[in-house]
Amino acid sequence: MPKKIRLGVIGGGGDSLIGVLHRVASFINDNYEIVGAVFNPDYEQNVAFAKEIDVPTNRIYKDFDTLVEEELKLPEDERIQVCSVLTPNFLHFPMAKKLLDNGFHVICEKPMTMDYEEAKTLQEAHKNSGKVFALTHTYTGYPMVRQMREMIKNGELGKIHKVDARYYQGWINTVIHDKEKRSTVWRLDPTKAGISSCMGDIGVHAFNMVEFTTGLQVKSLLCDFNYLYEDNQMDVDGTVLIRMDEHVKGVIRSSQVATGEENGLAIAIYGEKGALRWEQEKPNFLYKMSDTEPVQVYKPGHAYNSELSLGASKMPPGHPEGIFDSMANIYLGAAKAIRGEEYNDGEFPTMEDGVRGMNFIEGTVASHKQGNVWVKMD
Ligand SMILES: NC(=O)c1ccc[n+]([C@@H]2O[C@H](COP(=O)([O-])OP(=O)(O)OC[C@H]3O[C@@H](n4cnc5c(N)ncnc54)[C@H](O)[C@@H]3O)[C@@H](O)[C@H]2O)c1
Repeated sequence: MPKKIRLGVIGGGGDSLIGVLHRVASFINDNYEIVGAVFNPDYEQNVAFAKEIDVPTNRIYKDFDTLVEEELKLPEDERIQVCSVLTPNFLHFPMAKKLLDNGFHVICEKPMTMDYEEAKTLQEAHKNSGKVFALTHTYTGYPMVRQMREMIKNGELGKIHKVDARYYQGWINTVIHDKEKRSTVWRLDPTKAGISSCMGDIGVHAFNMVEFTTGLQVKSLLCDFNYLYEDNQMDVDGTVLIRMDEHVKGVIRSSQVATGEENGLAIAIYGEKGALRWEQEKPNFLYKMSDTEPVQVYKPGHAYNSELSLGASKMPPGHPEGIFDSMANIYLGAAKAIRGEEYNDGEFPTMEDGVRGMNFIEGTVASHKQGNVWVKMD
């Protein structure tokens, strides 16, 4: 077993949603060890949390800039190699850029930056750094999503006609109807979340899934947003018509006020020879449909799956693996890249996915603002 990769964590404290997913995911395949962190902007809470999860406190820093400064003083074989950036959106760009500029690999949460301009600047910094950059579009780590990509790549659906992706949640109902709460949540604050709430937070996952599974790019889009209160006009719901290649059209639907919905990410791709349908809340079932045969159900871990899909299962068939394993597969792909080992295209989302995502988010906002018009993507 090679030595563990020295991991730093920024954000993801005990008070966060996503921290536990990254910590567990980084441990699952025995590749990483957390050696330093700024889990929280409050130093006391930061140290208390490190003690709680048994991370040595000697490299728990008071803030991000101190982490970079102090780590650079350490010999290279002790220094943090890769940092996971798990802070609210507005901190992704300055943190990821400084890390790349100073020779650290980066694992970064989505949306990658606040806007498209920042995304392109980060792309440039990444090119110059020669370091690994992985973006955690978590759902691309599921074995059946990877299987979907490979089946489409192998032509099993024939020419694609139609794509339909949706990401429906209802959680913001508990916040949006209360004036005080809707003014304090960072996801509804454009200075912290960016220009979009719903499309930036979850619609971008659906967009990424569309491009990841089909291998096609969205060329243009038309978006219609909704918000519920005049004093907070961040989108909490949006529908996007998309045009991909010639005669390949589709829709991306996304909502945070779809009452009762939990994490309803679902994607269906329809082609001339067949169709594939997958749902995040039942991730171990991939449905293949056709006009002439009964529905087939693909499941993880069976030899009939592709190499990319099989590499994302650890247990024999019938042992359900879920969201922690999906994120762990992205950490596994990033570990291979950091160690300079071979890996397959699709083992982790890249800087290019992040740039596409920001191009998409900015396009949806522009389309809506201009009166729901068609907008081209680069
Ligand atoms: N990949 C996914 O499926 C997924 C799911 C949820 C959230 N996210 C993304 O993860 C990021 C964090 O989301 P969350 O829901 O965990 O947010 P959160 O508000 O629950 O947690 C943010 C954490 O960052 C810490 N933090 C804030 N400022 C900091 C600073 N300056 N230095 C160090 N730590 C700081 C906070 O103390 C907290 O622990 C967001 O960008 C979000 O879009 C991704």
